[in-house]
Amino acid sequence: MPEDNREVLLSVRDLRVAFGSRRHRFEAVKGVSFDIHKGETFGIVGESGSGKTTIGRAIIRVYPAAAGSVTFHGKQISGELSAADRHWVTDKIQMIFQDPMASLNERAKIDYIVSEGLLGRGLGKIEIRARVAQALRDVGLLPEFATRFPHEFSGGQRQRIGIARALVMNPELIIADEPISALDVSIRAQVLNLMRKLQQERGLTYLFISHDLSVMRFICDRIAVVHKGEIVELADTETLFRRPLHPYTQALLSAIPIPNPVMERQKVLKVYDPSCHHYEGDPPVFTEVEENHFLLANYEELAKLQGRWA
Ligand SMILES: Nc1ncnc2c1ncn2[C@@H]1O[C@H](COP(=O)(O)OP(=O)(O)OP(=O)(O)O)[C@@H](O)[C@H]1O
Ligand SMILES: [Mg+2]
Repeated sequence: MPEDNREVLLSVRDLRVAFGSRRHRFEAVKGVSFDIHKGETFGIVGESGSGKTTIGRAIIRVYPAAAGSVTFHGKQISGELSAADRHWVTDKIQMIFQDPMASLNERAKIDYIVSEGLLGRGLGKIEIRARVAQALRDVGLLPEFATRFPHEFSGGQRQRIGIARALVMNPELIIADEPISALDVSIRAQVLNLMRKLQQERGLTYLFISHDLSVMRFICDRIAVVHKGEIVELADTETLFRRPLHPYTQALLSAIPIPNPVMERQKVLKVYDPSCHHYEGDPPVFTEVEENHFLLANYEELAKLQGRWA
């Protein structure tokens, strides 16, 4: 991907999301900042509970931002919006989910499920039916499936229905939250390949959320590593794998299985110990340490890094 002229589609700045009451306030997202460029696949990786889904939901306005901002095409979409702007965000930013079983309404037929987002927009029945049929074709399903129920489909097909449901809105950005984690290993590649094909054909942009770095290496252009609601490192995929700088990223990478069983048995897993940082009086700042490579580090750590690189 060329480094210059990359159009910023979505921009997240110092985003904070909190849950609970004023007395028992829990900050799930503690000030994250990143840009997503048009046409790229941007990954967010981190362990369970690190705030990945919460970031996605705050972008689509399911959760309000406690602080910070989200802009799309340069226009602020967090906070108060007019009804027209809210519709614009729903159309242009769609989300697909981990569990195709749970996310589809079992009692509704496929045509209703896929068309739901189009209802109440003054579109005629014929137009809606045509768009549903096209969306099903786009994900490799027969338009005849429209009259069936979700339980008649396999896990992979159900995820395709989930994707069709997003595509029918003609979005620019799709937030895919663990879209293949619940699927059999044998069909994961099919769904990933479909996502890739759709991206190439339509210039789609993806925010791909996963805890699985080996999948992300395959699909993402850039990756942000989150730990307890903060981005600790952000880089091009290849840079992140070649030169991980944050000890948490290094620990995540050390846990990726190596295909060679002998090497796999000899491998030493790195454990991340947050007490390795000495942040008292020298708090960490999210810093660009080399071109397009950001690290959460304090002065002491940055000085050490500079010493190593000098
Ligand atoms: N609606 C909610 N109300 C209260 N707390 C929540 C809510 N949603 C998430 N949380 C909390 O916020 C934190 C981040 O949750 P989140 O679901 O974003 O993590 P995640 O990185 O997506 O994890 P996973 O990999 O398990 O999906 C967790 O501690 C979670 O318990
Ligand atoms: Mg999640």
